[in-house]
Amino acid sequence: MRPTEPCEWLSHSPEETEAVGAQIASWLAPDTLILLVGTLGAGKTTLIRGLAHALGITEPVRSPTFTLVHEYRIQQPEALRGLPLYHLDLYRMQSASELHTLGLDELLERGGIVVIEWAERLQMTGVPYEPSHLWQVTLTPLSDERRQIRFQSLDANTR
Ligand SMILES: Nc1ncnc2c1ncn2[C@@H]1O[C@H](COP(=O)(O)OP(=O)(O)OP(=O)(O)O)[C@@H](O)[C@H]1O
Ligand SMILES: [Mg+2]
Repeated sequence: MRPTEPCEWLSHSPEETEAVGAQIASWLAPDTLILLVGTLGAGKTTLIRGLAHALGITEPVRSPTFTLVHEYRIQQPEALRGLPLYHLDLYRMQSASELHTLGLDELLERGGIVVIEWAERLQMTGVPYEPSHLWQVTLTPLSDERRQIRFQSLDANTR
């Protein structure tokens, strides 16, 4: 069950961060938007790798820094099977109009899962859509290998 209160992990390795991604994956329902916040190298892509793997995605997961968006097909669990997982990285986004070009609002309307690296960039525009579930994950490097990871649901009922 997804926690209604914010929750936190202390990760000591990329593998532990992937495991946090897998745990978050187990809470997913259709039409969920996950905002990932954290500096360069904080472990955002690593967390998504664990999340995608838990959804039965076998392709390699890399940051879509140049293409802005990668699309995967979810294989499991049954409740999500066949839905798209979109992985966005807004690091290079210069302006709100690029979000339109990207068609983020259309991606969001397909009922799948959208995960956004550098979600800080959305402060320029806000989130152009109301998903059923809106979550934020914040990664903070504490040392070379240690990361604090904080999960918070921004869903209306827990806001
Ligand atoms: N506990 C940890 N969790 C995640 N990554 C870790 C951890 N300890 C060390 N690392 C290293 O930190 C780097 C994290 O890279 P990753 O691409 O996941 O970060 P990112 O937040 O997506 O960066 P970017 O902003 O460039 O997209 C990797 O080289 C990884 O091996
Ligand atoms: Mg990344």
